[in-house]
Amino acid sequence: MAVKLAVLGLNQGSKIARDAKANADFDLVAVAGFGQQAEDVAAELDVPLFADYNDLLKEVELDAVAIALPNGLHVSATRACLDAGIKNILLEKPIANTVAEADEIINMCADADATLLIGHHRRSSSKYLFLRDFIESGKLGNLVGIQGTYAIAKPFAYYDIEWHTKKGGGPFLINAIHDIDDLNYTTGMKIVRVYTAARNFIRGNEIEDSASVVLEFENGVTATYFISDGTPGPWNYDLAAEENVFFKWCPGENSLKFFGTKGSFGFPNMDFYHYADDDHYGWAEDLIKEHFVVEKNDPMTAEIEHFADLCLGRETKPRCTGEDGKATLKVINAILESAETGNFVDID
Ligand SMILES: NC(=O)c1ccc[n+]([C@@H]2O[C@H](COP(=O)([O-])OP(=O)(O)OC[C@H]3O[C@@H](n4cnc5c(N)ncnc54)[C@H](O)[C@@H]3O)[C@@H](O)[C@H]2O)c1
Repeated sequence: MAVKLAVLGLNQGSKIARDAKANADFDLVAVAGFGQQAEDVAAELDVPLFADYNDLLKEVELDAVAIALPNGLHVSATRACLDAGIKNILLEKPIANTVAEADEIINMCADADATLLIGHHRRSSSKYLFLRDFIESGKLGNLVGIQGTYAIAKPFAYYDIEWHTKKGGGPFLINAIHDIDDLNYTTGMKIVRVYTAARNFIRGNEIEDSASVVLEFENGVTATYFISDGTPGPWNYDLAAEENVFFKWCPGENSLKFFGTKGSFGFPNMDFYHYADDDHYGWAEDLIKEHFVVEKNDPMTAEIEHFADLCLGRETKPRCTGEDGKATLKVINAILESAETGNFVDID
């Protein structure tokens, strides 16, 4: 029997709704959202639209829900879904705006014995799964440092949406959180200390538009990360990875570089630089470039397939649990705190 699913929120949620509609494991029975885009998506998918998600939850019987509402609604929407008896929740990232809210969501799902999958969809990317295996393989030797970049330009109209201009709506919680989650997921290392120098002088909004971040991992590895959503360029995962059709792709560049004692790896371009052996090591020797080809997938589609597996009991462990989402949020919050105070921030 197909899983009766509703999607709440139809901007980012429109991709989830389309993927669910095309997935035989789901019966997309309703969607929630308001405005022209929501009406267009509901008409395209031929599914009932509710302007208020609370009305949808009252009127429609569901097995599962995907919540793609603004971050500030994540706690109340999760509670409303659990109150309606729903046992399977895909909640878009970030899990919440604060660690306290994240704990609230995790605890209420545990109390209701409900499955919670957080929408860090890159955990379902074939490229990231390759990267995780590559780092684990030891080919890099001892990992020493990481350099990350998310330099991109959002369209001017993006900031017409008010919550995008307020605390919680900026690139740290919207974009950096993916890159930080990627580091958590692919390296398995814990970030313990951060320093951030953030600026808002591109747009002058309440929230940051650019920042440089220093990250320290518990095993001594260090990373630097530059992010800006007002600087056109290809050095960001979304344009470089050729995965998400929302973006106009610009392949061939890297968003992450991993530096080890035996070699370096650029991601997502998948170039591995190393020397032939210890007898031919060092800057006067030939640096070998080994290129890997990884068949790409659509990570959001793969995430929906994973959610179906969870709903139907074919899998039991969410690829991104509430705790995973909270661990990533903690790093982002530390980055935000450091940006505000100008101090290094330790993460417990
Ligand atoms: N995984 C990703 O890559 C990714 C990308 C973008 C956004 N997101 C996340 O998805 C979530 C939504 O982001 P967005 O950019 O789509 O936000 P948005 O503000 O553009 O869209 C929100 C949607 O929710 C609807 N909505 C708001 N309040 C509602 C209510 N009370 N009842 C019914 N519908 C309501 C709106 O009509 C709209 O369709 C956020 O948590 C965001 O962080 C994730």
